[in-house]
Amino acid sequence: MKILNFYASVGGNTERVAQRIGPVAADLGHEVETIAFKQGTEVDFLAYDFVFIGSGVYGGLPQGDLLAYLRSCMKSYKKAGHIKPGCPRISKTVVTYCTYSGNYTGDAEAITTNRVLYTLFDRLGFYQAASWQVIGAYLPENMQQMNVNGRLGDIRNRPNENDLKEIEEKVKGILKPHE
Ligand SMILES: Cc1cc2nc3c(=O)[nH]c(=O)nc-3n(C[C@H](O)[C@H](O)[C@H](O)COP(=O)(O)O)c2cc1C
Repeated sequence: MKILNFYASVGGNTERVAQRIGPVAADLGHEVETIAFKQGTEVDFLAYDFVFIGSGVYGGLPQGDLLAYLRSCMKSYKKAGHIKPGCPRISKTVVTYCTYSGNYTGDAEAITTNRVLYTLFDRLGFYQAASWQVIGAYLPENMQQMNVNGRLGDIRNRPNENDLKEIEEKVKGILKPHE
């Protein structure tokens, strides 16, 4: 399969997850393109059979530039006739994921973000195979308190090796051909 491994990462937490997804998918024999989103990046999601899309959570939502880009894609795909009333399913799959601290409302922040990340793909007709949430500590020096006093407790040094190994297993689980 042709796989897009697409992510937005400001501090590097989401990038660490994406860096585990790409090699595992490639090892399974897939053709994988990894793209780190930044302002000005353009991609045709419909050119892939399977998309992994990830983002850090900011203000309870996907990273702002990525969110703006996904909204602009929605407009252009609609104009080009790819978004139809009723959004019929197409034979393409997406996995959304985010890294988040959950320090305000906990898992709700990741659930919302994953749902928002899926919106464009849902309208295009992609099937959502999974939505993953990975704890990601605040990286800025002046925000370290957030890593111990939020709803998820002590999240220092997350994602850790266990979190990343779990992602590798999930990638295998979702991409392996099942008998
Ligand atoms: C300015 C700022 C705002 C953040 N806002 C939220 C938030 O609203 N909810 C949340 O769960 N995590 C929040 N976080 C934590 C990030 O989502 C978390 O550190 C994530 O792993 C960052 O991913 P990235 O380094 O790939 O961009 C925020 C972090 C920063 C620095």
